[in-house]
Amino acid sequence: MAEFRLPKNSRVQKGKHHKAASGTNLTTVKVYRWSPDDGENPRTDTYEVDMDNCGPMVLDALIKIKDEMDSTVTFRRSCREGICGSCAMNINGTNTLACTTSIKQFKGKEIAIYPLPHMEVIKDLVPDLTHFYAQYASIKPWMQTDSVPLPDKERLQSIEEREQLDGLYECILCACCQTSCPSYWWNGDRYLGPAVLLQSYRWLADSRDEYTGERLEDLEDPFKVYRCHTIMNCANTCPKGLNPGKAIGEIKKMIAQRHAL
Ligand code: SF4
Ligand code: SF4
Ligand code: FES
Repeated sequence: MAEFRLPKNSRVQKGKHHKAASGTNLTTVKVYRWSPDDGENPRTDTYEVDMDNCGPMVLDALIKIKDEMDSTVTFRRSCREGICGSCAMNINGTNTLACTTSIKQFKGKEIAIYPLPHMEVIKDLVPDLTHFYAQYASIKPWMQTDSVPLPDKERLQSIEEREQLDGLYECILCACCQTSCPSYWWNGDRYLGPAVLLQSYRWLADSRDEYTGERLEDLEDPFKVYRCHTIMNCANTCPKGLNPGKAIGEIKKMIAQRHAL
């Protein structure tokens, strides 16, 4: 008989409880912990954070924990402005940016922080994005042209042409959408996923790019695009308010129109 049990080393254990040194306005923050170096199971550690001496965002709480309570907690961050995409993580069940997620919205309730789901974990809250970046590189995310003569200065666009890039250029490649997409969870080896496809459409929609045909040809594959089933988890979770599902729909339309020619 088949046995369906998680392997022992994947069970998340209850970890250490770190009390606040002082303060009465405390918020409980639970953080997923796993290190490749100690051979231990993953665990969730609990930290009581003194909110009277903490900034307003979840990233502020993590930085306070690392600075004052437990320097071993590992996470990525850089801009703390919602621009670099590096602090993407799962906060109370939603993939989002720690630096733009306000602690207040949880109204004093416990905050549980996990790495982005369905990615291999390097350590604690740091996912391995190697495959994601390789998929991004595969769509050639730069302008491709071969017309001559080359323009003397920049390649101009009309206001209308430039507007076609709105809702696309703002993507910060945080991978929140990518890791919230059920199709990507199951077929991430071959399906490009919402973030990479939104970026792909960003170049298809650019009036200055001259490789539209080649780009579409490259996307025509049973897995790369067509694993999207328009469930829209991607649009629901994007911290920048973008809609990768819609961009994927536009790619499908372009492929269909190309065949109709
Ligand atoms: S709309 Fe497509 S890309 Fe977005 S979550 Fe659903 S299946 Fe994934
Ligand atoms: S579309 Fe949104 S969620 Fe997806 S990578 Fe870009 S910014 Fe992040
Ligand atoms: S630290 Fe850059 S987006 Fe959060």
